[in-house]
Amino acid sequence: MSIEQLAETAQAMVAAGKGIIAIDESNATIAKRFAGVGIENTEENRRAYREMLLTTPKLGDYISGAILYDETIRQSTKAGVPFTKVMMDNGIIPGIKVDKGTFPLAGFQGEVVTEGLDGLRARLEEYYKLGARFAKWRAVINIGDDIPSGTCIEANAHALARYAALCQEVGIVPMVEPEVLMDGEHDIQTCYEVTEVTLRALFDALYNHNVMLEGTILKASMIVPGKDSGEEASVEDVAENTLMCLKTAVPAILPGIVFLSGGQSDEDATAHLDAMNRMGPNPWPLSFSYGRAMQSAALKIWSQDLVNNVRKAQDTVYARARDNGMAALGQWKS
Ligand code: 13P
Repeated sequence: MSIEQLAETAQAMVAAGKGIIAIDESNATIAKRFAGVGIENTEENRRAYREMLLTTPKLGDYISGAILYDETIRQSTKAGVPFTKVMMDNGIIPGIKVDKGTFPLAGFQGEVVTEGLDGLRARLEEYYKLGARFAKWRAVINIGDDIPSGTCIEANAHALARYAALCQEVGIVPMVEPEVLMDGEHDIQTCYEVTEVTLRALFDALYNHNVMLEGTILKASMIVPGKDSGEEASVEDVAENTLMCLKTAVPAILPGIVFLSGGQSDEDATAHLDAMNRMGPNPWPLSFSYGRAMQSAALKIWSQDLVNNVRKAQDTVYARARDNGMAALGQWKS
């Protein structure tokens, strides 16, 4: 697969003023989100929910791509139109989550490693045929007493690099996601240091595995204090620390960086992205790949009436997309 094609897809994913909607929750994760608003976790409800999101009128104004889950990429609207067709007709690139989740790292209490490499080449080939042009793999780094260990960071970086190389072999842009979790009592400086080490290990591994950075997107976590630290960081603090950390550890040739929301409020996720773009020019386009910060308001509205609230929920999805799209330009007005 040519690097030009990969680079073209990667650039389209971070086109000016556009970002990604992450709707790739596994059935276990969407069960939690549905339970929070009293929706039964059936295949039909999952399908109807994703149809509501993906058929949001003019979603493509601010959304360049959507990350789907294995079940979702095979589903269609009630009228029988494959979701991937709905997306492509609206200029939205289909993406797919290909990792199989995190599992305890043997020998390392409290740490996890992401699985899913076995059989990945064949799965990627199938996803390409189904229309996927980018794929996501999420590694999780926990912060706690004496963790993360170097071994955990290396194991996760290695898996990310092997997955990324396999993606590029079949013409799929890897979105590499090393998420440093917000959970914990650590301060913002600790988050910075752990994220820097993690990113350095990741880019070393990508280099060692011949991954072409021109056809790769980084999905990063922001530099924030631990949720239970009691520390408050201003929007400027988060934006400055995040930018500094990325500039230190991420090569400028990367076509773009998108952020996860990771449990931040909708408002914070947007404000942080906006502030980083106002502080530019930066070496790469900085945009969003939000899950919760794109969906939670809409899910709440939809849960109140799965049939009659579709349009109202879609208006909220569109509003979140517009706010985050403006933040990707540093032009958001709160
Ligand atoms: P959140 O924005 O809800 O963190 O989800 C993004 C994502 O895809 C995590 O892997």
